[in-house]
Amino acid sequence: MTDPETIVIIGAGVIGLSTALCIQQSLSPVQSVLLVARDFPSDTSVNYASPWAGAHYRPVPGSSPQALREAGQAQRTYEFMKRVAADEPGAGVKFIQGVEHLEAPPNEYLDAQSVLNVYEHLDGFRHLTSDEMPEGVKWGAQYISYVVNSPVYCAHMLRKFVLKGGDTRQYNLANIKEAFSLASNVSAVVNCSGVGFEDPKSFIIRGQTCLVRNPVSATITRQNEDGSWSFCIPRPLDGGTIIGGTKEPHNWDPNPSMETRARLLANAKKWFPFKPESGGQFDVVRDIVGRRPAREGGMRIEVEELEEGKQIVHAYGAGGRGFELSRGVAEDTAALMLEKGILREKAAL
Ligand SMILES: Cc1cc2nc3c(=O)[nH]c(=O)nc-3n(C[C@H](O)[C@H](O)[C@H](O)COP(=O)(O)OP(=O)(O)OC[C@H]3O[C@@H](n4cnc5c(N)ncnc54)[C@H](O)[C@@H]3O)c2cc1C
Ligand SMILES: *[C@@H]1O[C@H](CO)[C@@H](O)[C@H](O)[C@H]1NC(C)=O
Ligand SMILES: *[C@@H]1O[C@H](CO)[C@@H](O)[C@H](O)[C@H]1NC(C)=O
Repeated sequence: MTDPETIVIIGAGVIGLSTALCIQQSLSPVQSVLLVARDFPSDTSVNYASPWAGAHYRPVPGSSPQALREAGQAQRTYEFMKRVAADEPGAGVKFIQGVEHLEAPPNEYLDAQSVLNVYEHLDGFRHLTSDEMPEGVKWGAQYISYVVNSPVYCAHMLRKFVLKGGDTRQYNLANIKEAFSLASNVSAVVNCSGVGFEDPKSFIIRGQTCLVRNPVSATITRQNEDGSWSFCIPRPLDGGTIIGGTKEPHNWDPNPSMETRARLLANAKKWFPFKPESGGQFDVVRDIVGRRPAREGGMRIEVEELEEGKQIVHAYGAGGRGFELSRGVAEDTAALMLEKGILREKAAL
């Protein structure tokens, strides 16, 4: 008698969960999926990026291979999130007005075609006119974006995965090869472990934000001349508003800085349309420190054959865009697995 074949997915962040759901769509009857992770939604560890994300979608123009790949993944995720927002009200995804104010726009923003390449697909996209822009702002745009209550969305995907027959196990792997012995017949391990530690191209980008109870109706991003960023991201389903935020490569400090909190809130008060009833005061829920799992050159989506019949599928290094790329990355990963014969095309029922 043969043991049923198992595909192990490492990681219950937005990338692991999105990939798990895509893989389930193409699973053959003799295959099953086991999701293994140290942290699951509802866990809070500084090394588990997903629950700390804002999260909103903001396009990033550029012509590098990474930028072009991400543009396609982001666009597919935008279309996917429209269906999620419409069909799954408990998922924690909502479409709202997105606004951008840049004080010192990088060159990519000054080239009309490079802007259109990533913004044109957005509903309601238009440039702001100079009299619509606050003082000091040189480039502005508005469009319909979406915001995600990140812990709620991850918990929602985990629930879907389990209801569709997926198995889960909380476990801290000492080595990826260990994953091949977590079930009797593991054919492939999908590495969605975020930042990891063996890849010299991987690094972290620390982010500090502040979660407040004050509501706001749009997600607004402001880039300041000194290179710092301010943003507000309302979280659907009464999740408060994320006020951000810092981007600090290679900074491992797990503790929030009170000076940073004060600066973030002072800027938010100046620039974002919080209701006058709050009297300029913020009702703080908590400070947040997270580590974006970045990688030079962007995500690694690749199959590596460890030995005959044992394949590792890598999908990690989403950096600061894990939510906005999530569905595109999951589709690309599942497509690669189909191409390599790890998954087999399922006949439509
Ligand atoms: C402050 C902040 C704001 C952000 N804002 C946005 C935003 O607006 N939009 C956006 O798209 N993104 C945003 N991000 C980025 C986003 O959070 C990340 O890109 C995303 O969460 C990465 O997901 P992941 O699944 O790759 O990694 P993670 O969420 O870190 O998940 C990794 C998983 O692997 C598991 N794992 C790792 N090692 C092991 C091991 N040895 N054994 C077992 N399990 C293991 C972990 O337990 C976890 O389950 C933000 C991030 C931060 C910090
Ligand atoms: C593992 O699963 C595959 C696919 O069902 C099967 O062909 C193979 O015989 C199984 N191996 C073992 C050792 O059970
Ligand atoms: C698995 O992914 C991590 C990133 O999370 C990476 O550091 C590690 O090298 C990968 N494992 C292997 C065996 O390649």
